Amino acid sequence: MDSSKLLRAFPNEQSLGTGTRPYVNHAVAFKKKYTASKRIKKLAEVGWNVFFCPSEYVTGCDMLSDSGTTAMTNEQWAALHLGDEAYGSNRGYFLLAEKIRDIWGEAFFNPDARKPNAFIFHQGRPGEDALFTEIGKLGSGMQIPSNGHFDTTEANIRANRITAVNLFSRELMANEDTPFKGDIDIARLKILLEKSHKKIPLIYLTITNNTGGGQPVSMANIRETSRLAHRYNIPLFFDAGRFAENAWFIKHRENGYMGKSIRAIVREMFSHVDGCTVSFKKDGLGNMGGGIFLREGGLFMKRYPHIPDGLMNNQILSEGHPTYGGLTGRDIMALVVGLEQVVTDEYLDHRVGQVAYLGNRMTELGLPMLTPFGGHAVYLDMNKFFDDTDKKASDFGGIAFAALLLGLYGHRVSELGNFAFGSYDKKTKKETFPEVNFVRFAIPRLRYERQDLDAVADAAKALYENRRLIPNVKVMYGKELSLRHFKARFELR
Ligand code: F0G
Repeated sequence: MDSSKLLRAFPNEQSLGTGTRPYVNHAVAFKKKYTASKRIKKLAEVGWNVFFCPSEYVTGCDMLSDSGTTAMTNEQWAALHLGDEAYGSNRGYFLLAEKIRDIWGEAFFNPDARKPNAFIFHQGRPGEDALFTEIGKLGSGMQIPSNGHFDTTEANIRANRITAVNLFSRELMANEDTPFKGDIDIARLKILLEKSHKKIPLIYLTITNNTGGGQPVSMANIRETSRLAHRYNIPLFFDAGRFAENAWFIKHRENGYMGKSIRAIVREMFSHVDGCTVSFKKDGLGNMGGGIFLREGGLFMKRYPHIPDGLMNNQILSEGHPTYGGLTGRDIMALVVGLEQVVTDEYLDHRVGQVAYLGNRMTELGLPMLTPFGGHAVYLDMNKFFDDTDKKASDFGGIAFAALLLGLYGHRVSELGNFAFGSYDKKTKKETFPEVNFVRFAIPRLRYERQDLDAVADAAKALYENRRLIPNVKVMYGKELSLRHFKARFELR
């Protein structure tokens, strides 16, 4: 049989449009069964805060976070076994150094231990804590602008009496359909720099922009931000947790990048920055891990030559020896293998495609979604969701939506809007509300199938159709606390 004849005679795999996943299930975990009435009872017990609901009650999809929730590959499970649990200079540390140098660039991990520029931590935020503690010592009245700080990043900045400035793009704010809504607003950044550049120790770009809807940042925006920052002698950092997903969007949406490899795009992205903080619980495909990486010879190292030693002190005081940074040797091995997988097209096409699949399904069902869809999650616009009801911002409809999605249908998502990013002033008794009001459906990597995503979309639609019945939220505890969404308890009224 002539194979080319066969191939011509039948439709090809792509034209069928129903490709399979690029992986198979190798081990699976069965869930417990709980009825809606049991889940609701449990939720009432924990004050309707979905963070406090025991995860075994999440009988649908757990979309609370895409962080540390990755299903690992066989190669990663096998690598765990090779973890070297030495107190000093475990084998994985050197493999990780090689991998970072290979993927981000040689300048980001100096193998000479006498000139350290790479600092591993057990996750992203202790790294942020260390960095902003050091920066906080530089003076008072400082500001750190970003395209959108993540909540704990912002909290770590503030804890050191630095102002966190969010310069979300105009397109994001206007909900216009543009390909790179994660960009920093360059016009606002210019104004801020002209006025306050002496007070800005560092500029941040979060890739992808989690708080701003998981939206990507374009190479053009990275380049321009870097140029501006450097003109004022200010270092530029990435918050790099989802660097590979960001690179995928550059490849597929930005002129001139389609022919380039993800690895080449990642290299180019990192060529513009002086360092990064990172949570490897996202695009490290690990369940744990994070760090701070400084460009050798970069502006950050030049301007603040004493900071690396401060970072290392912090590591030693809070994480252990810098060569394990609070991670077990096996965690490090899993990261080394995860970083290799995450920059492949087969992985990323599926990953970003899965997010778009859920987003499209929800849009088809009439739900008001933030579009275009980002890299790790889809975001439901709660202002539009409740637009034709009498819900007020202070009724925290997003919190009630998340509580009911879990109670009634078994799926867990997080409110990232009026409650999470809002605040309450005890003196004036006033609530302040943020610029964006979303509920986030974060998709754990390599974990769910289409059938699962369909169930989530159908459940969200059922709540949308009954939106007038969704109760108001009364905050019983924690209204005035910082990071209140993690701590608060509610009643539904
Ligand atoms: N920066 C970004 C952009 C993040 O999304 C996160 C975590 C962190 C920093 C902190 O990293 O969790 O390792 O300490 N985001 C998770 C989320 C928690 O659900 O989006 P971490």
